[in-house]
Amino acid sequence: MGRPLFQMKNITKDFLGVRALDNISFNIYEGKVMALLGENGAGKSTLMKILSGVYKMEAGEMFYNEKKIEFNSPKDSQMAGIAIIHQELNLISGLTIGENIFLGREPLTTLRKIDWKKLYLYSSKLLKKLGVKRDPRELVGNLSIGERQMVEIAKALSLNAKIIIMDEPTDALTDKETASLFSVIKELRDEGCCIVYISHRLREVFEICDKVTILRDGKFIKEDEVENLSEDLVIELMVGRKLDEQFPRVEKVTEGIVLEVENLTNDLVKNINFSIQKGEILGISGLMGSGRTELAKTIFGSIPYEKGKISVDGIEVSINSPKAALKNGIVYVSEDRKLQGLVLELSVKENMTLSALKQFEGLFFRIDREKEEGLVNEYIHNMTIRTPHMQQVIKNLSGGNQQKVSIAKGLITNPKVLILDEPTRGVDVGAKKEIYNLINQFKTQGLSIILISSELPEILGMCDRIFVMHNGSISGEFDRAQATQEKILKCAVGIMEG
Ligand SMILES: Nc1ncnc2c1ncn2[C@@H]1O[C@H](COP(=O)(O)OP(=O)(O)OP(=O)(O)O)[C@@H](O)[C@H]1O
Ligand SMILES: [Mg+2]
Repeated sequence: MGRPLFQMKNITKDFLGVRALDNISFNIYEGKVMALLGENGAGKSTLMKILSGVYKMEAGEMFYNEKKIEFNSPKDSQMAGIAIIHQELNLISGLTIGENIFLGREPLTTLRKIDWKKLYLYSSKLLKKLGVKRDPRELVGNLSIGERQMVEIAKALSLNAKIIIMDEPTDALTDKETASLFSVIKELRDEGCCIVYISHRLREVFEICDKVTILRDGKFIKEDEVENLSEDLVIELMVGRKLDEQFPRVEKVTEGIVLEVENLTNDLVKNINFSIQKGEILGISGLMGSGRTELAKTIFGSIPYEKGKISVDGIEVSINSPKAALKNGIVYVSEDRKLQGLVLELSVKENMTLSALKQFEGLFFRIDREKEEGLVNEYIHNMTIRTPHMQQVIKNLSGGNQQKVSIAKGLITNPKVLILDEPTRGVDVGAKKEIYNLINQFKTQGLSIILISSELPEILGMCDRIFVMHNGSISGEFDRAQATQEKILKCAVGIMEG
């Protein structure tokens, strides 16, 4: 494929003595989309943070057009024509879309004042290019996570960079948003830009990427053209072994109804009726914005309901706050771990036990540290959470491992009903399976699980029963045996009732 435009050679990076990158090489080719793949914690984001001047490397060299280059700050990398869309969103909620896009780089008038007209004009052009129907004067705080991600992308585009790094850009996007991102990527590529594309969605990689580089445990494994690889081979190279059945299923052992919801209604959900049994996995499918998350939050008490009834174990309960939900054994693990799930400045241990401290109360209400730490270690082990120790600050964990901690945080409260909202988003194939195994393990122990997911194979593979939501209502209900991808999709877009 010719000589690379940018080369990273023998890159090594340590965090407090722990080697995150070990002698890695990575090439970027002109006018190509390069996939950078690997399991959670493999080192993808760290490598890209070196390329974008966020981290300094211990050893290694970088060459741009065969000339050695060094970055001492993000600014250096930006000046060299490199833009990065970080895995974690970095927007300021209290500022407008336009202000966020041009933060620190606002266009100026001849009088050296901010040229607001220009700023909003440029911003609205970028939004249009990405198919985002929002006024750039709107506050970022009002946007959905998907729209925020699009603003991050607009911000990167506004730099007119030669190399654009996208670290899991579609993690929170709807199918439609993903499609418009892909057409922008193709456009950029045809203009000669280089894109580095990080994703755990292999289907996307095979759709949009030209080349693939695979890392495993901080080491370089392979660079090859996409056409020489298959999904199975990529998985094998990533995890270092063959993966068998992706959705390990266990049969349900029914033991009566745990949660019953009758005529639940508010502004966001309409007339919802369902029940869930002990040891059952109930899937909720539907497009983003169909009311799935809103339903979960209503049952969890973070959105009030105006009408309707919620019963646990046959007794009506009043759920007017998350605290009340927790007390009644209902736990919600948010899809948005950054904003609602975790406290990034606290440790793995503190995050995990935050909602469950009562469980560890010993004599005189003192926390039984030994019990607490024993359980935390058990979860770290069972969920293969990659962290040097339980005191590690959450923000230092890789994205997928953060997700596992947020699930563990829910499980540790020992709930009756566990609502998981997109639990495997941003999680690699191997870890996904670990999460599925864990869900099954809890199912066998009699826990009822509501699984909200945009991934149909996950819903079809794991659930005993499936609901489809459309416009805040349930538009379809299927038993596992009757459910098909096609029927679910039809109900999701509202052209069929099931
Ligand atoms: N600031 C930091 N301090 C300490 N350790 C870190 C820091 N950043 C990353 N690490 C560690 O370095 C390793 C690589 O992490 P990285 O975020 O690069 O993984 P990743 O491949 O991007 O994973 P994911 O797919 O989950 O995003 C992990 O073990 C992580 O815990
Ligand atoms: Mg990452």
